[in-house]
Amino acid sequence: MEIRIEKTTTPKAKPDQSNLGFGKIFTDHMFVMDYEAGKGWHDARIIPYQNISLAPSAMVFHYGQEMFEGLKAYKGKDGQTRLFRPEMNAKRTNESNKRLCIPELPVEYFVEAVKAIVKIDEEWIPTQPGTSLYIRPFIIATDEFLGVAPSKTYKFIIILSPSGAYYASGLAPVGIWIEDEYVRAVRGGMGFAKTGGNYAASLIGQVKAHDDGYSQVLWLDGVERKYIEEVGAMNIFFKINGKIVTPMLNGSILPGITRNSVIHLCKKWGYEVEERKISVDELLEAQKNGSLEEVFGTGTAAVISPVGKLRYCDDVMIINGGEIGPVSQKIYDTVTGIQNGTVEDKFNWITYVK
Ligand code: PLP
Ligand code: COI
Repeated sequence: MEIRIEKTTTPKAKPDQSNLGFGKIFTDHMFVMDYEAGKGWHDARIIPYQNISLAPSAMVFHYGQEMFEGLKAYKGKDGQTRLFRPEMNAKRTNESNKRLCIPELPVEYFVEAVKAIVKIDEEWIPTQPGTSLYIRPFIIATDEFLGVAPSKTYKFIIILSPSGAYYASGLAPVGIWIEDEYVRAVRGGMGFAKTGGNYAASLIGQVKAHDDGYSQVLWLDGVERKYIEEVGAMNIFFKINGKIVTPMLNGSILPGITRNSVIHLCKKWGYEVEERKISVDELLEAQKNGSLEEVFGTGTAAVISPVGKLRYCDDVMIINGGEIGPVSQKIYDTVTGIQNGTVEDKFNWITYVK
């Protein structure tokens, strides 16, 4: 893939690293590539970060044919720039694309594009503990047409955002609202795909949760509203009676890359890991009998996020006294250590940007 590069002539000032927040600041450049039926993916370019011009009739605005990904670049103390399992994001892009009738994007194009744009804006990678460069690749349908059909043209874009903790509380345990009225996704729908519609469907629950002082929503299955699925921006894990338990991939939850990595690590450490159905009743029971030891979420933006409080209808479960548990802490330290280069990368999860 040949990438044309047009550098900015007006570089922006770098932000104060102590107050980055999440997803609010954008770097000097962006990657763009076009797709046209018959021509395939073409015209890869890196250009100054700028607005994009689309017709009001562009299909993405009407029927939501789009997908996105999320990964991060980390700058280690050794000065090296690391990506965490980017080929997994590339593969998941194509799982999303298949479901949304978006043409396949070769895995090597995705990884090459990410490396190239990160390299150009490498100086934007923050270095303070807990910070990183969030990478947001996305694809949008651009045909000017109001009929309901897959578009014949698309844009693949990557933007970069120096970010701190996703939750304002940092590594402090978050409170999570188990939603009993609305659902996010159903099996056979597109819950496993990373596409805007899933997040649009989740906003109403998120607003309810926030109004009640909770950070995020934990969704239940769309049919029986009984089984645990995932949180708005992360997968969920429980430590019950010494075992690590997480909902199985059933088609309505996102196959998280952090989830996959945590399962791998826990198995290596000798924990029994169960991927299975978990009912909310089982959690309430485990909480009552004292066997619900730890709860944590996993995600690129959220990293490892301990859960201190879970609310379901009139029940409020305080987990581990509202404190981060030892297993959550060990997983956090290991995953972030591999990402930052302070823990050995035994599983070849790191791709260097050179
Ligand atoms: N579930 C949802 C709905 C998400 O948005 C995310 C974030 O990407 C995850 C799970 C975690 O996935 P990953 O670990 O690949 O970031
Ligand atoms: C990520 O963790 O990369 C995500 O996509 C979460 C996002 C919805 C903020």
